[in-house]
Amino acid sequence: MRKKIIAANWKMNMTCGEAAGFIETLLREIGQDDKVDVVLIPPFTAIAKVSELLSNVQNVKLGAQNMYFEKSGAFTGEISAAMLRELFVRYVVLGHSERRTIFGESDEVVNRKTRAALDSTLKPIVCIGETLAERDGGKVEEVLGRQIRGSLAGLSAKELTEIVLAYEPVWAIGTGRTATPAQAQDAHAFIRKTLAQVWDAPTAEKIRIQYGGSVKPENAASLMGQPDIDGALVGGAALDPRAFAQIIKHSAGQ
Ligand code: PGA
Repeated sequence: MRKKIIAANWKMNMTCGEAAGFIETLLREIGQDDKVDVVLIPPFTAIAKVSELLSNVQNVKLGAQNMYFEKSGAFTGEISAAMLRELFVRYVVLGHSERRTIFGESDEVVNRKTRAALDSTLKPIVCIGETLAERDGGKVEEVLGRQIRGSLAGLSAKELTEIVLAYEPVWAIGTGRTATPAQAQDAHAFIRKTLAQVWDAPTAEKIRIQYGGSVKPENAASLMGQPDIDGALVGGAALDPRAFAQIIKHSAGQ
């Protein structure tokens, strides 16, 4: 059984003060419940504060939204894996579609970051997903296959089990337009089949694949009830601690 993983991707939102208020409400809502893995992914500026606030909390883990693959040096504006580890960050989102489209990250860059994260014992949440034009053009499997092979190139089967994949159809991110549970399940099943082909079936069965794209309390249960959907990467609805807690609760029963 794969334990579900529900993550709050705050993107470029949340000051330290706002994050503190969010955590207070979230912890009141979910208590000590640990039926699913919960991850908060603040912007870099709030990571130290969130780390401090979660230091005595067992059931909520910390993630980062990005990192650079080099260890240190003249890379203005970038953050290394070691800097994240020092703040007890466990997960790092890599290759989010906003990084790929707005900041031009290629599968090769995502692959180098994935390697660097694993080498520093961070757990990468590697994002993949097709655009609307690619879906309309019947290219979903081609795109996902290329992103999986490119972004995860060179990983051993053991390393693969350390990562989380996030299937986020670009047309569903922040648009209010969610993939139907059947559409999402089809994509997730294809992703797992591809992992089984490139690595092996037992390894593919262990990998958690999150769905992302306009996940809300209202659609969480039906999405999380699909056999190959193992959690959610939540943007907009994760800015409201009560909505996020509802998503966690709806996922726990699935
Ligand atoms: P959304 O974002 O929930 O606002 O669609 C999801 C994401 O980009 O991770």
